[in-house]
Amino acid sequence: MKLKTSFIKLSAIAAVSAIASFSSPAFAALDEAAVEPYLKKQGCMKCHAIDKEKKGPSYKKVAAKYKGKADGEAKTIKNMTEGLKVKLEDGTEEEHKVIDTKDPADLKLISKWILSK
Ligand code: HEC
Repeated sequence: MKLKTSFIKLSAIAAVSAIASFSSPAFAALDEAAVEPYLKKQGCMKCHAIDKEKKGPSYKKVAAKYKGKADGEAKTIKNMTEGLKVKLEDGTEEEHKVIDTKDPADLKLISKWILSK
């Protein structure tokens, strides 16, 4: 009898931790409303605004550039993740900031958010 209860207890613990590990990526993932605060925290908004030029192009301008093009998502994600050389508005060049998420769902959502501006 005693053995049985501890088995039940153990499997309950296993079930709870399985649920926790399945659901933690969902906690880490961004949702639509979290994108802008996240980009602010990452420092992206120092160089990009939604609708005005700063050191980098406005997100509206990026969206216009890729409007109707199938490779917009791939190009913007590449730009955020690979530290490509970019030219700032003042003519100087530097490596683009690499975003600190590697989660494909987050990257897609951020790209979608930018391209919807
Ligand atoms: C130091 C300034 C700076 C910071 C910080 C910065 N960017 Fe940029 N970004 C630029 C510049 C300049 C370009 C223009 C590149 C070009 O057209 O060659 C650019 C281009 C882009 C593009 C468009 C790429 C394309 O294909 O046209 C995206 C998307 C982008 N940045 C997203 C981000 C995100 C997300 C962050 C934060 C993780 C960020 N940027 C942080 C300066 C910056």
